[in-house]
Amino acid sequence: MLFQVFVVGLLAAYLALVTFIIARLFFPDRELEQVPEKETQPDPPQDQPTLELLYVHKSFDLPVIRGIGFKVHRGETLGILGQSGTGKSVTLKLLVGLLKPDRGYVVFEGKDLARMTERDLLELRKRVSYVFQGGAVFDFLNVRENIAYPLREMGTMDETLIQDRVQYLLHAVGMEDQDTLHSSKLSIGAKKLVAIARALANDPEVILYDEPTTGLDPIARKSLSHHIRRLNKQEHLTSVVVTHDLKCLQIVADRIILLKDGEIRFEGNQEEFRTSSDPFVHAFIAGKRFEEEKEEPLSA
Ligand SMILES: Nc1ncnc2c1ncn2[C@@H]1O[C@H](COP(=O)(O)OP(=O)(O)OP(=O)(O)O)[C@@H](O)[C@H]1O
Ligand SMILES: [Mg+2]
Repeated sequence: MLFQVFVVGLLAAYLALVTFIIARLFFPDRELEQVPEKETQPDPPQDQPTLELLYVHKSFDLPVIRGIGFKVHRGETLGILGQSGTGKSVTLKLLVGLLKPDRGYVVFEGKDLARMTERDLLELRKRVSYVFQGGAVFDFLNVRENIAYPLREMGTMDETLIQDRVQYLLHAVGMEDQDTLHSSKLSIGAKKLVAIARALANDPEVILYDEPTTGLDPIARKSLSHHIRRLNKQEHLTSVVVTHDLKCLQIVADRIILLKDGEIRFEGNQEEFRTSSDPFVHAFIAGKRFEEEKEEPLSA
């Protein structure tokens, strides 16, 4: 019996050896190598949000953000509305790790920013672009050089590739015929378009806009909002736009959050926003000051 087990074992080993030799002979080396770890990793689940804030609190001298949480899904544009000083810019800075929450979590593709290594954070900054509230462009450079700036910063890119990317972005923001203009000669609206094109230079996956339409007249605001909407969809960007410009969000946002004193007062789609029964939402849409109803003291 023992002898039979030994013979069967020997035969199995022999067969395995023959199979290995045949495989080596008929298939190139690469196919026998282990698939690199990255390729064997499953794609993140489709419903995993790209960005997420969970129970986030942030205070400076006074509390600014008071326990907010929301998700931004891949490819969607989330609009964050709120009056001045309500914590919109702070929220954006938390999302990109420029500020750290006192409590709660900021999560990018399932990873808590607080636990990220320096390398992870560098990677995050490459994939997430931020258009600052001032939308600053370099006045000493022309339009083309402004857009090329982040690509030159990398120091590794071939000049032809840089020019191709710049040309693509000039076309995307409709500024091909202004490429050699000095930025100091541009209108505020045109400067904002250059700032957006520059933020897109490195081909980010996420773009955060802080008050993109501030300082523009109504026609320029509308035109810039349409540009943002088209670019976000065309480039398959995941995006957050913070503003107090309701008209801008009516054009760009898939979903809207309305902040009040550092808390989320409303969250929903455009239709839900328009038809909300919340008097604060009504007042915001109507552009009126909102007075919280005071409870009547109970009469004795
Ligand atoms: N670095 C900081 N240090 C101290 N206080 C800060 C800091 N950043 C923001 N704040 C305070 O937090 C509050 C919210 O600021 P935030 O810039 O987020 O407002 P906002 O909603 O973006 O307003 P706006 O519409 O005017 O841009 C303000 O009272 C501001 O003074
Ligand atoms: Mg702000």
